[in-house]
Amino acid sequence: KYASYLSVVAGAIALSAVIPAGIGAASAAPVVFEIAFNQTETHPQFKALQMFAEGLKARTNGEYTAEVFPNELLGAQKETVEMVQTGTIAMSVAAASLLESWNPDFSVFNLPYLFNSIEEQKKVLNNPEIVGDLYKSVSDQSVIVLGSFTAGARSVYLKDRFVKTPADLAGEKIRVMQSDTNVQMMKHMGGVGIAMGQGEVYTAIQTGVLDGGENNEIVYSSLKQVEVAPYYSYTRHLMIPDYLVMNVDLYNGLPDDIKTILTEELAKAFDFEFDAFAADAAKARAEAEKAGGKFSEDVDMAAFRAAVKPLVDSKLTNDVTKTIYQKIEALR
Ligand code: GCU
Repeated sequence: KYASYLSVVAGAIALSAVIPAGIGAASAAPVVFEIAFNQTETHPQFKALQMFAEGLKARTNGEYTAEVFPNELLGAQKETVEMVQTGTIAMSVAAASLLESWNPDFSVFNLPYLFNSIEEQKKVLNNPEIVGDLYKSVSDQSVIVLGSFTAGARSVYLKDRFVKTPADLAGEKIRVMQSDTNVQMMKHMGGVGIAMGQGEVYTAIQTGVLDGGENNEIVYSSLKQVEVAPYYSYTRHLMIPDYLVMNVDLYNGLPDDIKTILTEELAKAFDFEFDAFAADAAKARAEAEKAGGKFSEDVDMAAFRAAVKPLVDSKLTNDVTKTIYQKIEALR
């Protein structure tokens, strides 16, 4: 199934590669932006990306559109982000952690307890005055960040018990996303961070490679991780965004009017997703509960916040990260 999908995609890619960007004739074959997505079709980011595809198609009279490939069909995020770099596909959703390896300044958005709510995050993440330069800074790595989705707040879950304080995580092997900040974060939180792609987590917990994970309620429920780690404790330690990244040559090659439409349609899609996330997370929690998941609010957040403070300080090392951090604080 995977191989046949790849050949379909390879066909689409070959097609989009030979079509010069900006063709004027409405009768020409449409330019299709392939978007890699690692979550299911029920995720609010999927709905937002579908909205974007429809808006783009309608406003360009079908000359441009997008096709979203959910469920890691094109590969895990780390791989699909590399496919964007090489121009094999046009776009991918990428957890913020992954961009840190290209430009360490991105670590500012990977810090624990940076935001207190989705509303706070919304004021910052697509605000060009705060993120404009940062999002363009990775064009030397062949990508541009087009904008950001929320991924809610992440909390820790274990296979056999709740967590209240950092001491409760001692010796527990917890999956984290693939970045230095995330691995260090789990160490400060008291556990042992093991970096891997999201799709491997279920089996890793089931086979004892991991004792648990940390994620938002939507991933916890939709990827069925609740079945193998039913104790979800609201540490709410991380509100890390998901970026939409695009191949920079492809982006730069677009005519200006198409760039404008793309930006406007994406802005609508990002807004929609920020507004939809909380309700979808609540629904996901209810579904996880039906599947046997148990949720605890009995968490000493102040203790976790204090435990990760040295990490926050150690990552704000230059003017770029310090300035962004100060702007976030000013908006609170
Ligand atoms: C979040 C995020 C994803 C990411 C995932 C992960 O759910 O939305 O983009 O892949 O976490 O834990 O890897």
